[in-house]
Amino acid sequence: MNIPMVDLQGQYRKLKTEIDTEIQKVLDNSSYINGPAVAEFAKDLEKYLGVKHVIPCANGTDALQVAMMALDLKPGDEIITTTFTFIATAEVIALLGLTPVLVDVFEDTMNINPEAIRNAITPKTKAIVPVHLFGQCADMDEIMAIANEHNLFVIEDNAQAIGATYTFKNGKKLKAGAIGHIGCTSFFPSKNLGAYGDGGAIFTNDDKLAEQMRAVVNHGMKVRYYHDYVGINSRLDSIQAAILKVKLPHLDDFAKARNYAANYYNSAFSNCDKITTPITSNFTDHVFHQYTLVLNNVDRDGLQKHLSDKGISNAVYYPVPLHQQKAYLDVRYTDGSFPIAEKLAANVLSLPIHTELNDEQLKFITDAVLEFVRN
Ligand SMILES: Cc1ncc(COP(=O)(O)O)c(C=O)c1O
Repeated sequence: MNIPMVDLQGQYRKLKTEIDTEIQKVLDNSSYINGPAVAEFAKDLEKYLGVKHVIPCANGTDALQVAMMALDLKPGDEIITTTFTFIATAEVIALLGLTPVLVDVFEDTMNINPEAIRNAITPKTKAIVPVHLFGQCADMDEIMAIANEHNLFVIEDNAQAIGATYTFKNGKKLKAGAIGHIGCTSFFPSKNLGAYGDGGAIFTNDDKLAEQMRAVVNHGMKVRYYHDYVGINSRLDSIQAAILKVKLPHLDDFAKARNYAANYYNSAFSNCDKITTPITSNFTDHVFHQYTLVLNNVDRDGLQKHLSDKGISNAVYYPVPLHQQKAYLDVRYTDGSFPIAEKLAANVLSLPIHTELNDEQLKFITDAVLEFVRN
């Protein structure tokens, strides 16, 4: 068997007729940049997420950068985020001359710990960037409460949880990415809503921020050749938008297929004390962008080799927390500063999860994992 982390071929085969038709339409009218497909997809996504504004852009990293550029921050202003995430979250903070303030996560959900956010606030703190890691939401009741108390912006990094729903303590439900002042996502091909190249989007309900961010993605112009802001060039191209427009109506079914695989894994590993399976918080559902185990006293390198030898892809998300990354070493942090993230980095392992996994493959994978950890 050869089981990839993500089966983009298999998913394409199922949607081929629709996708090919929509790509052909873009080719027929040659509207490659800002063609009708881009506006149509943005409208569809606004409706799906229940937000007023979706601003498409070139990738998820740009989405985060544009969100931060819209907040009129000064060099040295601090933005609090998790140390256990993909680098993009902190990279844009650093690029803009702002100061990333890192905090630890919960051991079970691996999401940012609101108490740690509270403890990291200083007079320079301007924003919080929770990352909805691996497909489930961070504790947004607490995070929004902290933000309101201290007058901070919240930018949700929703690159991994598009389609997840958050349930507030008062019963109100909102889609991940539609809760903070701004939400950001990525349409990188392996994401739950993946394009066939790079893509991203920014969401907000705030008209003023939307107007500014629409200008920022387009060289800071509202009127052609009149530049009101320092901007960047960050566009979702029409072919990617056409593909995403076809895929969006299937997003909830994609999440169901991912949950099927996750449930299969959870029950196969339920009696194995060497493996901790993912926990879902009661305030969120989980769209399983990644299925990530925590290994307890298992030789991870050995398990990775055992799986790879059998043709089973696997990956470590993430092997090094941000505070231990060479480019981000900082006198404020040392080894041991964030013990939970460090422990997770040493013990996590992600297994294949996508929309095309079948029982035969799932059995093959779980048998292979158990064979190794039980020996
Ligand atoms: C949590 C997180 N934030 C940001 C990004 C950046 O997205 P992109 O690769 O589209 O720039 C990613 C994607 O890899 C991500 O996983």
